[in-house]
Amino acid sequence: MSRRSLISIRDLSNSAILGLFDLAAEFAAQPRRRLMLAHDAVMATLFYEPSTRTRLSFESAMLRLGGQVISMADPGASSVAKGETLADTVRIVEGYADIIVLRHPREGAAQLSADMVDVPVINAGDGAREHPTQTLLDLYTIFQEKGRLQGVTVALCGDLKYGRTVHSLVQGLARFGAHMICVAPHGLELPEPFRRTLTAQYGVDIAQYHSLDTAPLGGCDVLYVTRIQKERFADQVEFARIRSSYQVSRKTLERVREDAIVLHPLPRVDELDYSLDGDPRAAYFRQAAYGVPVRMALVAALLGLREVPGFQQPGTSATPASEAFHCPNPRCVTQSEPGIPARALVSEAGNSRCAFCDAEQEVVCPAS
Ligand code: NCD
Repeated sequence: MSRRSLISIRDLSNSAILGLFDLAAEFAAQPRRRLMLAHDAVMATLFYEPSTRTRLSFESAMLRLGGQVISMADPGASSVAKGETLADTVRIVEGYADIIVLRHPREGAAQLSADMVDVPVINAGDGAREHPTQTLLDLYTIFQEKGRLQGVTVALCGDLKYGRTVHSLVQGLARFGAHMICVAPHGLELPEPFRRTLTAQYGVDIAQYHSLDTAPLGGCDVLYVTRIQKERFADQVEFARIRSSYQVSRKTLERVREDAIVLHPLPRVDELDYSLDGDPRAAYFRQAAYGVPVRMALVAALLGLREVPGFQQPGTSATPASEAFHCPNPRCVTQSEPGIPARALVSEAGNSRCAFCDAEQEVVCPAS
């Protein structure tokens, strides 16, 4: 089997995603059974940022597949605290595990790791960039609860600038023909490169609102609420100002259809009122629980334990850019990892883009 990793939701075709959903439904139908599919495999979970759901649901998924798990949940208690680079750590862990699940604060960290090792790497969140497995379970939830993805209307609310779950989700929704509106406080709108990609590749133009009060929520099938990503703000005063600027409350739900659902990747802070929990439209705890069968399906497919139609088709490989390149993104993994030369690919628009974090930049001519 050729090795595959999951770095971006773009790495999976629509048919592979639907194939994973079929497998996830099969696993979900026998939730308590411990399978013996992965009995000789070990998963390493490397989490350089806090996590409850993602790490534990991956570990639960691996245990339910019959596999074993080793975990680094606290980088402060590992050689990271002694200054070990990510590249060195993953090369070491490759000797201990058959699959690596990585969460890291640097954008492009998962791609860099996948380039370094010969085992599959799953991106469990790379800074503010992407979180493709959250998108798999978000799409699966919508598919289960609404019966379709094509034509559903989703309101994406909250921190769309730094929220990595949204960055992966908009691409997944666009590909399956969903409609979207964005509702974000000023300054936290969906970043321009994502908007450009959606327009250029899928012909999707997303309407933007700055307040829940003015957004046309009545036409939505799904309200996808996200947390303001406090940890990504350089200015905590700015965070405090924005944090109190929006909340989905019972009053908000009065304008939402009876058959709509409210999703949230969780954890919530103050953007989603606790009084909504008893409302039948609140689907976020079911959504979190879907994480286990969906991640079981993904791990089984990546380890080659189950055939998933369309899964083994390689993604389209981008052309390397020939010019000298300096990644302009201060949050890119190449800015913190010594010995990793910047590498660029040609973007859809014909520009050079960082092979790790996707940031685009005009060409820098080599010094003559
Ligand atoms: C999200 C994340 O880490 O990006 N959490 C998760 O994985 N369910 C969302 C968040 O932290 O706001």
